[in-house]
Amino acid sequence: MQVIKVEPGVRLTGECRLPGDKSISHRAALLGAIAEGQTEIENFLCGADCLSTLGCLKAMGVGISQDNGHVRICGSGLRGLQEPGHILDAGNSGTTMRLLLGILSGQNFFSVLTGDDSLRGRPMGRVIKPLLQMGAQIWGRESGLKAPLAIMGKGRLEPLAYQLPVPSAQVKSALLLAGLYARGDTLVIQPLPSRDHTERMLQAFGACLQVEQDGSVRITGGSSLHGRLVQVPGDISAAAFLIVAATLIPGSDILIRDVGVNPTRTGVLDVLVQMGANCTLHNERFWSGEPVADLRVRFSRLRGVEIGGALIPRLIDEIPAIAVAAVMAEGVTVIRDAAELRVKETDRIEAIVKELGRLGAELVSLPDGLSIQGGKTLKGAAVDSWGDHRLAMALAVAGLVTASGATVIGDTACTDVSFPGFSSLLSGLGVVVEQYEARE
Ligand code: S3P
Repeated sequence: MQVIKVEPGVRLTGECRLPGDKSISHRAALLGAIAEGQTEIENFLCGADCLSTLGCLKAMGVGISQDNGHVRICGSGLRGLQEPGHILDAGNSGTTMRLLLGILSGQNFFSVLTGDDSLRGRPMGRVIKPLLQMGAQIWGRESGLKAPLAIMGKGRLEPLAYQLPVPSAQVKSALLLAGLYARGDTLVIQPLPSRDHTERMLQAFGACLQVEQDGSVRITGGSSLHGRLVQVPGDISAAAFLIVAATLIPGSDILIRDVGVNPTRTGVLDVLVQMGANCTLHNERFWSGEPVADLRVRFSRLRGVEIGGALIPRLIDEIPAIAVAAVMAEGVTVIRDAAELRVKETDRIEAIVKELGRLGAELVSLPDGLSIQGGKTLKGAAVDSWGDHRLAMALAVAGLVTASGATVIGDTACTDVSFPGFSSLLSGLGVVVEQYEARE
C-alpha cells in the first residue's frame, strides 16, 4: 500500500504549475472524439480519471495519441464512434461515466459501462432518468440505478426540457451531450449554477448552444462539432490544497501559475478570503474560453464562517480542503446544503469527521454538511484516505499544520486520480513529504 508521511513546521515558498483541470480535460477528450477533424489538447490531466475517459474513447475506435500532457485526437464525428467490443471501464471517475452516458445514448449501438467499487455504488439514476425520457434504453443494477449499466442508444433522441433535481454539472453535461443527438432543442433548467465548462467548450467547438437569462441551457441537436486546440488551465481543485497549506503555515508565500479561475469554480477563493486568507489573482487572461490567473498566497490567520446555498456547487470538491482551513481557524465554521458530499467517491462528511478527528480536530457531521470547531491543537497520527483522492490530500495538508508529530496517511495511490505528482510538487515548495510503499 502506498502511504504519504508529512511533518509539520516548514513553510511553503516558491512557484509552481499544476496538472490540468480534471473537468476540462475530460470534456476536451469527449468533444474531440465526437468532433470532425483533429483536436489538440495541451496540459491534459494525465491522472487516472481522465485516462479512463481516453481508454473508453479508444475502445470505441477513436484515434488518440498521447505524449504526457499533450493529447491529439482524431475526431470520429458525431456518428463515427464504433460499438465497443468489450465493457467500457470508467474506473473511479463519475465524470467519465455520467458524461459518456449522454454520448452513448445517442449512438446506434449497444455498450456496457462499469467502474470500480466506489463508482458502482454511486447514484446514476439522476442521469439515466432523463436519458430514458429522450429515448435511450438503459439497464443497470438496483432497478436500473447503479453500474454496471447496459445502454442501447438511439441515433435520433427526443428533445427534452428538464429541470435538474440537483445542481449537478455532470447531469447537465450528459443531457447537453445527448442533446447533440436530439431532433430539436434540449433545455436543461438548473436549480443553481454549476460549473459551465461543457457549455463554454461546446460553443467553442461550434455547437448551437445558448445560456438563457434564467441560467437554463438550450442546445440544438444535429449540428456537427469542429476539432480545435484546447489549452487546459491548472486545476483549481488541486490548487485548493496548496492554497490552504500556504495560508495556514506561518511564513509561507507561494505563486501558483496558470490556474483556471472560472467563476463557477472559485467558491473556494471567495470563502478563504472571507475567512481572512491572503490570496490574490494576477495576470488574468483567457485560455480556450476559460479564465486563467496566477494565484499568490501568503500566510494569514483565519476565522470561521458559514457556507451554504449557491456557494456549494462552486466549491463542492474543495470542502475537504476547506474543512482543514476551518479546523485551524478561530471560531466555528458551519457548512450546510452539501448533502451531495455523501455520494462522492466516499461519504465525504463521515470520512472528514472521522479522519480529521484522529488528529484531534472537533467536527460534527450534519445531514447536509459539517460543523467545525476551530482552534484545536492538532497532533500527528496515522489516518486513512478511504481510497478517496481528495481526502488523502486534505489529510496531507492537515498533517503539515499539526502542532507536533508526523502524520502518516494510508492508501494514497488514489491521489493520482486527480493530482499526479502531488507529493513531489509539495516537496518542491519546501515542506517535508515522503511517499513510499508500506506493508499492509
Ligand atoms: C464534475 C462535477 C461535480 C464534481 C466532480 C466533477 C464535472 O460533480 O463534484 O468532481 O466535471 O462535471 P456533480 O456533477 O455530481 O456535482
